[in-house]
Amino acid sequence: MKVLIIGAGGGLGKALVTHYHKAGHQVQALSRQASSLPEVCWLQVEDYSAAQLQAVLPQLYQPDVVISTLGVLHNDSFMPEKRLADVNLEQLHESFRVNAITPILLLQQLLGLLPKKSACIWAQLSAKVGSISDNYLGGWYSYRASKAALNMLLKTAAVELKRTHKQLCIAAIHPGTTDTALSEPFQQRLAADKLYTPAQSAQRIAAVIEQLHAENSGGFWHWDGSPLTY
Ligand SMILES: NC(=O)c1ccc[n+]([C@@H]2O[C@H](COP(=O)([O-])OP(=O)(O)OC[C@H]3O[C@@H](n4cnc5c(N)ncnc54)[C@H](OP(=O)(O)O)[C@@H]3O)[C@@H](O)[C@H]2O)c1
Repeated sequence: MKVLIIGAGGGLGKALVTHYHKAGHQVQALSRQASSLPEVCWLQVEDYSAAQLQAVLPQLYQPDVVISTLGVLHNDSFMPEKRLADVNLEQLHESFRVNAITPILLLQQLLGLLPKKSACIWAQLSAKVGSISDNYLGGWYSYRASKAALNMLLKTAAVELKRTHKQLCIAAIHPGTTDTALSEPFQQRLAADKLYTPAQSAQRIAAVIEQLHAENSGGFWHWDGSPLTY
């Protein structure tokens, strides 16, 4: 199988690259970061702009599985908002840019690579907190809203692409709380058995993907393979 991992330099990205490589699949990794896994084909981009993606396109193969891990919860400038008073333009804008806008533009830019007549999975890591119907706790305005927007963008693309890419399955997958830089500031409140290693989560994400078919396109999935509500 040919696998393309986008956002390969993050915690889950690296674990997914390692998982598929160890399982004997061909792997191409795309990241803004330099390669830390010399055994796989690693392509570095400055960012995920259309120009950068078009430049790297000739080096990419036709994949059977694409997984994008792109996402941001916090950075040097912001932490998730606890209350309405914390909501601000910069954080909303950056969260929507990384969590929703860049992932859908990735699909737009790389669509030409995807097979029209054979099975293909396009999976984007999302988050359960992006479920509107499951929002009982509040808080984390930008992250929640941008992941909800991501889910809608993916669902909308799934509806459209059913016509042209009949065997394509587009999926939003919640990886579970995983020990990476993204979750690090929030790990103290978690029970130890609720925090998974990147290797565990990569294995579970791959297991969810293995069960997906074109008729599931547009779905939102928990790491255990059960469907999540939008
Ligand atoms: N860890 C968790 O507990 C958890 C829980 C629920 C959902 N998720 C989701 O799972 C995905 C992966 O998370 P992770 O834990 O592996 O986090 P991570 O280690 O921070 O990795 C995030 C990835 O997003 C890309 N990225 C981050 N900021 C970016 C920016 N400003 N512009 C472009 N790309 C950017 C990076 O790609 P490069 O390789 O190019 O640097 C990186 O690989 C995210 O979508 C996250 O929302 C994670």
